[in-house]
Amino acid sequence: MPDRSDAVALLEEWVENEGLRKHMYSVEAAVRHYARMRGEDEDLWGLAGLLHDLDWEKHPENHPLTAVDHLRGLGYPEEVLQAILAHRSEFTGVKPTSDLDKVLVACDELSGLVFATCLVRPTGVDDLKPKSVTKKLKDKQFAAGVSRDEVQRGVELIGLERAEHIQNVIDGLRGIAGELGIRGEDVSR
Ligand SMILES: [Fe+2]
Ligand SMILES: [Fe+2]
Repeated sequence: MPDRSDAVALLEEWVENEGLRKHMYSVEAAVRHYARMRGEDEDLWGLAGLLHDLDWEKHPENHPLTAVDHLRGLGYPEEVLQAILAHRSEFTGVKPTSDLDKVLVACDELSGLVFATCLVRPTGVDDLKPKSVTKKLKDKQFAAGVSRDEVQRGVELIGLERAEHIQNVIDGLRGIAGELGIRGEDVSR
């Protein structure tokens, strides 16, 4: 099985946009956090988070089918490919069924909202609470690219209270806050 450094090399080869890279690292961090909490295979789950948008920049019209074909050829596990397909089920027809599939959908859009919320706070992620993210969720003008319907779908799929899920995503992102540039010391500069 390809490891994380293989996946990172692939990400850097396929994705130039810094924002998209950070999105992929954010989703990886959130999905890994869930894997740790649930005693699942963190490295396996992490690959799905890290690579889910691999072809979004180069092949948006075929996302994520191009990426999945490529990853299959490289020997990535079926669970990872299935999760990547299921994060865009409206296009691929693959429904999220496994826990990993559901967690990936649930972390995808929400991690973008949490990230955007951190950037507009003087203290970044340092003392961020779910309540602040919920406020931004309800403000449709804020980070308008984040689909509120998808966030809601994710909450339903994962089967947790919304605030609890938001807290978990915050905790996941907090683990790589320095790399993402969302600590208080980063955003207040
Ligand atoms: Fe995607
Ligand atoms: Fe994504």
